[in-house]
Amino acid sequence: MKSSKNVFVCEECGYNSIKWLGRCPECQSWNSFVETQITQNNNTKPTKKVNKPEKLSELNIPDYIRAKTGMDELDRVLGGGLVDGSVVLLSGEPGIGKSTLLLQICQELEKSRKVLYISGEESKAQLKLRAQRLKINGDNLYLLTETDIDSIIEECNELKPDVIIMDSVQTLSTSRYTSAAGSISQVREGALCLINYAKTNSTAVFLVGHVNKEGGISGPKILEHMVDAVLYFEGERTNSYRIIRAIKNRYGSTNEIGVFEMGDEGLVEIPNPSEVVMAERPKNTSGSCAGCVMQGTRPIISEIQSLVTKTVFPTGKRTSDGFDYNRMCLLIAVLEKRMGLKFYENDVYINVAGGIHLDEPSADLSIAMALISGITDKVIPDELIAFGEIGLSGEVRAVSHIEYRVKEAIRLGFTHIVLPKKNLSQLKKVPDHVKLIGVSNIYQALPHMLNKTTE
Ligand code: TYD
Ligand code: MG
Repeated sequence: MKSSKNVFVCEECGYNSIKWLGRCPECQSWNSFVETQITQNNNTKPTKKVNKPEKLSELNIPDYIRAKTGMDELDRVLGGGLVDGSVVLLSGEPGIGKSTLLLQICQELEKSRKVLYISGEESKAQLKLRAQRLKINGDNLYLLTETDIDSIIEECNELKPDVIIMDSVQTLSTSRYTSAAGSISQVREGALCLINYAKTNSTAVFLVGHVNKEGGISGPKILEHMVDAVLYFEGERTNSYRIIRAIKNRYGSTNEIGVFEMGDEGLVEIPNPSEVVMAERPKNTSGSCAGCVMQGTRPIISEIQSLVTKTVFPTGKRTSDGFDYNRMCLLIAVLEKRMGLKFYENDVYINVAGGIHLDEPSADLSIAMALISGITDKVIPDELIAFGEIGLSGEVRAVSHIEYRVKEAIRLGFTHIVLPKKNLSQLKKVPDHVKLIGVSNIYQALPHMLNKTTE
């Protein structure tokens, strides 16, 4: 016996209500409720319980196998490759390169796996054109242009793919719900069907999710807890660098990032992002200092630029790109109080080159030095790099992973490394031409600035 009931569902968060509401009590958004008809199948008898508690020691674990995607940058973010039976949500703004990346990894995946690429956005001809452009000609790669989830599952049952790519979840729909395609109930139902399929057949699934203008994955925000890994694809459309990071990963660390560049033939991996960022560094300019942050197991060296100019406003303007705004204000306050620098008379702009975000306290010292260099117009030597956390009294505190950072700095040709004094003892020998400068407060770093202004 089938019965249908009408419910009102919030399009933002999926909250259900039996009557229409002007404002969602769950996510507080206005006018987000739409009426949806849900057909329920009342025939289902309660099934006998099959899940029983089992001893941990006697449990047979499934043999997880990781498939290489052919892109080391992506494999690292996934935790070492794509795990069979895992569901990965890849989200990002439209046009960032999600479809391109997933089509590119098919080339490697299809060597060992049967891959089904389902597109609800592009026609087969468009996909073929893109594949030709990316020079992908798979014999084990199947294309399907379909949006109805029941037909998709039917096709999957027939084809039995090892990897499914669903581009995108927002195009999924089912006739069981009357709401429009892309609405929260449709997306959730569609994703659930694919997740169930993945878990029962040990098929790996990539779900592509578009981010809405607020920055959340529209609708699919509610998918985040249902999937095994959530990857964000970031970057600006004006700049060709793309960064992929894991927000959640049941099979790996969430600290890792992967860096790519969008070119004429798709995405190209950037295994040494520090080199790319530092290659464009201007020489001999005040307000610039090199710093190093850890992204997972990988140190990334980046250039911090500051610009300090006399303000025309009653209070100085401050902006920060790539570094936490409040942390910058705190560092400015420390420099004003401890060193008497008059930042309050100035506008202060901070920018981190290459679109890297410095979200680690070890960036403090390089930010502070860039600020001092910016306000005093004294140049920091190009071969100097600084890392260390700054405390409220101007002291420099030890940071983690010091060996990785110093090694990367030496590899990139830095010869003057300013680091917390406490970290010095953890370091093994460095080459003779490299000078390690241990400092315990910000003043000790100052003599290493050059007494000259920008050329
Ligand atoms: P796409 O993968 O379609 O983005 P998404 O699926 O995230 O919406 O990428 C689209 C952009 O990438 C588009 O603006 C064109 C650009 N692009 C290249 O620059 N080079 C290429 O080889 C390809 C395939 C795309
Ligand atoms: Mg796309």
